[in-house]
Amino acid sequence: MILVTGATGHLGTATIEHLLKNTDASNIVAFARDQNKAKHLKEKGIEVRFGDFEDHTSLDYAMRGIEKVLLISTIDHHRYQQHQNVIDAAKKAGVKHIVYTGVTLKDVNTSAVKPLMSSHFQTEDYIKSSEMHYTFLRNSLYAEVIPMYVGKEVFKKGIYLPTSDGKVPFALRREMGEVAANVLLQNSHKNKTYHITGRELYSFQNIADQLSLLSGKTINYEDVDQTTFSNTLLERGVPQINVEIISGFSADIKNKQYEIVNKDMEELLGRKPASLKDSLKEIYQL
Ligand SMILES: NC(=O)c1ccc[n+]([C@@H]2O[C@H](COP(=O)([O-])OP(=O)(O)OC[C@H]3O[C@@H](n4cnc5c(N)ncnc54)[C@H](OP(=O)(O)O)[C@@H]3O)[C@@H](O)[C@H]2O)c1
Repeated sequence: MILVTGATGHLGTATIEHLLKNTDASNIVAFARDQNKAKHLKEKGIEVRFGDFEDHTSLDYAMRGIEKVLLISTIDHHRYQQHQNVIDAAKKAGVKHIVYTGVTLKDVNTSAVKPLMSSHFQTEDYIKSSEMHYTFLRNSLYAEVIPMYVGKEVFKKGIYLPTSDGKVPFALRREMGEVAANVLLQNSHKNKTYHITGRELYSFQNIADQLSLLSGKTINYEDVDQTTFSNTLLERGVPQINVEIISGFSADIKNKQYEIVNKDMEELLGRKPASLKDSLKEIYQL
């Protein structure tokens, strides 16, 4: 049986959707902390085991009879500890294989969000030291997060971001879920690290151009210096923590941390991942 953590989240939902296309619901167990959010999973015949990464007893219960675990990273500042709890419970229960969704980044030591990003690599090291089989899916940025970067008024005000000509191989999260499902169902991915990236690198100027073509409106990209950008967001009432996160990710994009393109996603999907144009069409319903 396969245990999917984060089963009520976006990536977990996409993974389960694809698992269900290729295996019976009785082979899937969902780990969830919210009964309401998990209702639809039960309706599909999936066993839901409730708990929290902070709750050891619930993790021990969740791991019973499980062979493979998909550990989807959380976003909490102390997530490394949470991930360790999941890994310890899996090892204790005799789980054979952990698939972990981390990040693909050129150099975590120079990342502007190093504490957050380091926890992905610490988790990978911890899984390796557990001596269970592992597969690391180092995901690039989700195309679905583009609206968060460009803001709600992108079609009126354009894109204002301190990313300069830095690029990202954005890929659809729902296709990353498909990749995770394929990896969980196939037996050829033991002790492998994959870089799950889109097929090309895209700057926010490319995104502005593509949105202009798709919408028929002129959308400009304006580069801005980091301090002006942060101050503008704070003046608009964006909470400090959100400003720090978006500024940190933007700095990493500008510094070319995400400029990694790899064929792993195409091979694991069995087709080319969606292009930027197709992703934006889907996200904005254009
Ligand atoms: N590559 C990217 O661009 C990108 C962007 C954003 C995030 N991420 C990372 O990728 C992960 C998955 O993305 P996503 O879009 O699927 O995120 P999401 O929709 O927020 O899903 C996160 C899932 O983790 C669960 N979870 C969080 N803390 C937990 C805990 N303490 N115990 C048990 N379950 C817990 C959540 O449960 P609830 O439903 O109960 O909240 C949810 O099911 C994120 O958590 C983050 O680490 C990557």
